[in-house]
Amino acid sequence: MASLENKVALVTGAGSGIGKAIALTFAAEGAKVVVSDINEEGGNAVVEEIKSNGGTALFVKADTSKPEDNEKLVEHAVQGFGGLHIAVNNAGIGGPAALAGDYPLDGWDKVIEINLSGVFYGLRYQIPALLRSGGGSIINMASILGQVGTKLSPAYVAAKHGVVGLTKAAALGYADQKIRINAVGPGYIHTPLVEKSLTPEQLDGLVSLHPIGRLGESQEIAELALWLASDKASFVTGAYYAADGGYLAQ
Ligand SMILES: NC(=O)c1ccc[n+]([C@@H]2O[C@H](COP(=O)([O-])OP(=O)(O)OC[C@H]3O[C@@H](n4cnc5c(N)ncnc54)[C@H](O)[C@@H]3O)[C@@H](O)[C@H]2O)c1
Repeated sequence: MASLENKVALVTGAGSGIGKAIALTFAAEGAKVVVSDINEEGGNAVVEEIKSNGGTALFVKADTSKPEDNEKLVEHAVQGFGGLHIAVNNAGIGGPAALAGDYPLDGWDKVIEINLSGVFYGLRYQIPALLRSGGGSIINMASILGQVGTKLSPAYVAAKHGVVGLTKAAALGYADQKIRINAVGPGYIHTPLVEKSLTPEQLDGLVSLHPIGRLGESQEIAELALWLASDKASFVTGAYYAADGGYLAQ
């Protein structure tokens, strides 16, 4: 039996990059997947790809920085597929690049709203739905920058450290109620988020920070998310798992 058979999963930011790979992987493992994004075109294309592979999916447009959108997203999942067992809070942005002393105030607010508050709003509405469905697994997309800093991304680093702390607090609150909550910390991954904001030379520079000698691929993060979502990770909660080509080991 596929490892996510009879499970309902929602994935935010699933119209691109890591979220797209997670949605496709979960669907291939038998989950009914709610693909969510602010980008309708990207999200609908992922739903079509899942369906053409024989899977089950629906698209819900939702801005994770808005509490009401998170509430609506969970309602759509429950109404559409009868419950909710897995949620991946993956939507995120890079934000401006500047030192803390010059960082644009509106850039700070935007990064914190999407990358940190968005994860909290997700948990706020997903957890009650998971409790009603008898438990499940939540995966919050952090980053290596949830463990260490980089000087030009103070808002991103603060938000991702916040996601790691929030994951621990939420996991402790529900560990005895069959809900597992974990954080994933990718190193630099070939996705539009990274490729749009960096020159080929800067990308080459990033390779040298990964002892494995290359950047990661979205599918390599999806495989970790799949394990955390599945019953194979039944004793794993409140944890931070890096998939970073050795970045944090240095
Ligand atoms: N790519 C990397 O190197 C890397 C490394 C570590 C962590 N991450 C994290 O992984 C996650 C996914 O990143 P990615 O690289 O796949 O990026 P991406 O830009 O390819 O995809 C992000 C998706 O999120 C959506 N999105 C943005 N803001 C949103 C919002 N407010 N509400 C709903 N959807 C929204 C975008 O439309 C996009 O489809 C992010 O949280 C990012 O911080 C990425």
